[in-house]
Amino acid sequence: MRADPENTWDSVESLSPVSEKTAETIELLQPDVKTSELDKIIVRGGNPLRGEIKISGAKNAVLKHMCAALLTDDAVTFTNVPVGLRDVRFLGQVLSHLGMTVALSSDGKAILRAQTIKTHIAPYDLVRKMRASVLVLGPLLARHGQAEVSLPGGCSIGGRPIDLHLKGLEAMGADISIESGYIKAKAPQGLTGALIEFPFVSVGATDQLLMAATLAKGETILRNAAREPEIVDQGNALIKMGAQIEGLGTSEIRIQGVERLHGTTHDVVADRIETGTYMCAVGLTGGELRLKKTQTSLLPALIAPLVRAGLTIEQDGQDILVARSAPLVRGTDIMTEPHPGFPTDMQAQFMAMMCLCDGASMITETIFENRFMHVPELNRMGANIRVQGQSAIVRGVKKLTGAEVMATDLRASVALVLAGLVAEGTTTVNRVYHLERGYENIVQKLSGVGAMIEKI
Ligand code: EPZ
Repeated sequence: MRADPENTWDSVESLSPVSEKTAETIELLQPDVKTSELDKIIVRGGNPLRGEIKISGAKNAVLKHMCAALLTDDAVTFTNVPVGLRDVRFLGQVLSHLGMTVALSSDGKAILRAQTIKTHIAPYDLVRKMRASVLVLGPLLARHGQAEVSLPGGCSIGGRPIDLHLKGLEAMGADISIESGYIKAKAPQGLTGALIEFPFVSVGATDQLLMAATLAKGETILRNAAREPEIVDQGNALIKMGAQIEGLGTSEIRIQGVERLHGTTHDVVADRIETGTYMCAVGLTGGELRLKKTQTSLLPALIAPLVRAGLTIEQDGQDILVARSAPLVRGTDIMTEPHPGFPTDMQAQFMAMMCLCDGASMITETIFENRFMHVPELNRMGANIRVQGQSAIVRGVKKLTGAEVMATDLRASVALVLAGLVAEGTTTVNRVYHLERGYENIVQKLSGVGAMIEKI
């Protein structure tokens, strides 16, 4: 086992001295206790948004980076980490349970080290709160030869099965059984490279097998692999840790297994869904925003319909300038697809923007079976939306009126906040903890650009 002296834990300070803010290191493992199930967000509509918002690192990248730190006994440092997200803290809890030391500092730095694995069991009460925990399975198997992970339950947008994850790991030589709600996986001789052809694109299964393959014996080929920017970011971090990967961002990824991985420092890619969310906010309220440290190249399939709808979007160096030119957005049809298609995680926000469009918009959801829960709540605010199977027809109305609404998942929650930014009167969004899973400091970010929004 080659040791990389410069990457051992005791030298991590010399590598990247953790800022003096370490003293404020957020004691991980405590989800933001300030947010209780009763917390609400109050929004008063009517203000255009003007100013700048710093876009955080991508939630759907950093959760995988944290799991990937299980693949080495060196310290791994990530920067531009959205340390405020509940999902980051919950996953930190799961990883710490497994034996990883996880330290976050308020300047967005995470230093993770799984020097030894204390246990290979990820228990139900932790996994149920954090579906992405299932992504510890591949790394634990690859590094440790065994894993027991509670089956993640479904969630409000769908059953969210993980059959592709398990079939792929079995193809790599793991022995997997499901017993009393737990996935019990063994690979005492380690994993072996395999050709894996996905019947349809799965981001999670691609992440899972990409990580497992880095330490498998021989070559793994992932066909019909996911091409999301978060997968590319995950692969780039693994390459910096010593993995041999080709084809990131294409539908065929080839991985040559290596003996071990070592530590590195990696800057997390910008959150394209947070970026798109604030673009739709401008589409609703009018005004102009400078979205800092993000790229239009992360959202190829979102830019076109937003421009067709009447937004002006321009990359200005490291930032994106977005403004609404016409007094109303034009009705525009979209259909969600795996990247580089229109992102399913932007469907609810785009629908909120279409509520006040000049005309109508047909929105088709092809990824998840139940991702229209925001429709009845938007209709209670005066929208005119009708669901027909996988599609929703949105007919533009003159105005929305504030109401008491309830959020059911992360993206539905934020769609209701967006609608509240333009609705007449006051909108109260309940179950705010959904929001705080995926939008770092959203109340501060929006009030900082003129929105009348507060958390009570
Ligand atoms: C990831 O979920 C994201 N989550 C989701 O974001 C995102 O909506 C989704 O990818 C699609 O882009 C994270 O990255 C943590 P999939 P994931 O595997 O990996 C089915 C958000 O709001 N499927 O690409 O679970 C599955 O049920 C969240 O940030 C199987 O049938 O998505 C779904 O219908 C929501 N079997 C479809 O494939 C499997 O083994 C796509 O799922 C795996 C998936």
